[in-house]
Amino acid sequence: MPRPPHVAASTETLSTRVFSQLAARARAKTERGERVFPLHVGDTYMEPPAAARAETQLTADHPGLHKYAPVQGEPALLDAIQRRLERLGHPVARERLQVVSGATSGLSVIAEALLDPGDEVLLPAPFWPLIRGILAKRGATPVQVPVWHEAGIDVEAALEAAVTERTVALYVNTPHNPTGRMLSDTQVEAMVRVAARHDLWLIADEAYQDLWFGEAAPTPIWAHPEVADRYVACHTLSKSYGLAGARVGYVHGGGAAMPAVQGVQTFSTYCAPRPMQLGAVHALDEGDAFLAARRAEFGAMGRRAAELLGLEPPAGGTFLFFDAAPYLREGETDAMPFLERALDHGVLLTPGASCGERFGRWVRLCFTTLDPETFDAALEALAPVLAK
Ligand SMILES: Cc1ncc(COP(=O)(O)O)c(C=O)c1O
Repeated sequence: MPRPPHVAASTETLSTRVFSQLAARARAKTERGERVFPLHVGDTYMEPPAAARAETQLTADHPGLHKYAPVQGEPALLDAIQRRLERLGHPVARERLQVVSGATSGLSVIAEALLDPGDEVLLPAPFWPLIRGILAKRGATPVQVPVWHEAGIDVEAALEAAVTERTVALYVNTPHNPTGRMLSDTQVEAMVRVAARHDLWLIADEAYQDLWFGEAAPTPIWAHPEVADRYVACHTLSKSYGLAGARVGYVHGGGAAMPAVQGVQTFSTYCAPRPMQLGAVHALDEGDAFLAARRAEFGAMGRRAAELLGLEPPAGGTFLFFDAAPYLREGETDAMPFLERALDHGVLLTPGASCGERFGRWVRLCFTTLDPETFDAALEALAPVLAK
């Protein structure tokens, strides 16, 4: 009997089911004309710097604007990336750079370049929901290691306990989605030691590199001399500059990583959108004041949300992550009833289950999707759901 063709087994775990129920309720609510504050998605209300916007890139200024860009990236953008990394004190050689279509694509390219099906990757949990699927679609096994949800966990011991002979990489994202925490210097050193001891790739997800709320920029883990030959870092303009729809980011790395990354990129998207690469040049070259203003505003919004929730203020990023246990009623064992109550009050939040298997009772809140005034209205709407 002929059968319809199958889809790849590696897609089996890619469901977005945890969230779709809530999203459907939110849609119905909006259709009824009721207000929904979207604190679930990691985006920003801010428009990007004017010179970086789509409408600012003109064919008249850039003949061939809509042609393919070179696979490695538009030369003007590669120049701007090098200038920015140099300004930050961490220069990277030109041949080590690769422009990608945002970090989601960049990390997929990295996964294809460095991993074989069956390889295990240490995934400190909770984590950015898409990274699990990116690894799974490559056929690799994400090994969830809960370390981020509480302060003071012995990161080195936890990671060591999860290493097997199949482990080939450690994924590190700091500032962190979803907790808003940042690795301390000691934790960075611990991760570097684990990677070096077991000959692992260290995959640094730098999505929130510019969104830190302390006195000074943290030193990136990839700049640690001990990982020079075993790191790959992935950056994006999405979060820093409000350019998520532009799909522009970049990757660099050491050892044998980059020829492989550059090879895979050709067969993925070939190049990132050329008009947006040209806009990105302006963001990187002229965006420092924009970033400073954004850090001040986002940091303040994050602190207001943390105060309402009784959490430590975020150290960076755009999210807070909390255990909903104090807000659950008798017999409720996961965060879903709480999320439904929040939505009844007009606030859409993300189930923690999408950030790791241990986090069914947890909830993620994004503090950068709404302008400050609307965000405060959202917090006010949420307050009664938190009342004991
Ligand atoms: C930790 C982390 N990495 C990577 C990404 C992907 O960013 P993009 O594909 O927009 O560049 C995100 C987006 O939410 C993220 O939170």
